[in-house]
Amino acid sequence: MKTKMTGTGLMLPAIACTWLMIASTPLHAADGEAVYNKSCKMCHASGMMSAPKVGDADAWKALAAKGRDVLYDHSINGFHDKGMMPPRGGDDSLTDEEVKAAVDYMVQNSK
Ligand code: HEC
Repeated sequence: MKTKMTGTGLMLPAIACTWLMIASTPLHAADGEAVYNKSCKMCHASGMMSAPKVGDADAWKALAAKGRDVLYDHSINGFHDKGMMPPRGGDDSLTDEEVKAAVDYMVQNSK
């Protein structure tokens, strides 16, 4: 399922829904750590293929400066600059929410 929050008509229900999710779960509905361990760690723990290493504060500071939405977009759709980030880390079974939760986990653990 793809959710895009563009268009003002969708904004209000989307915000209400987000509040509900925040109220009922600690962070994200998806477990970012579990997703990371399953689908992202193989590259992002070692820095394989020039992947930004989780825990490298400088690298992730620069990434966070791009804005979280850009990082979500690059993780969901893939990104080529110095290396090659496959869409959804190559795991098509992941939902947008799960990919985003994994990005949050990586940013959180790279400060
Ligand atoms: C096959 C190896 C591989 C896997 C698996 C992988 N990544 Fe990456 N990722 C990369 C590489 C390489 C880059 C650097 C791309 C570049 O700079 O060209 C990257 C970059 C990124 C970036 C920074 C994008 C940017 O704008 O610079 C984020 C965020 C990211 N990955 C998140 C994830 C998440 C979340 C997962 C798991 C769902 C994941 N990656 C799985 C290799 C991988």
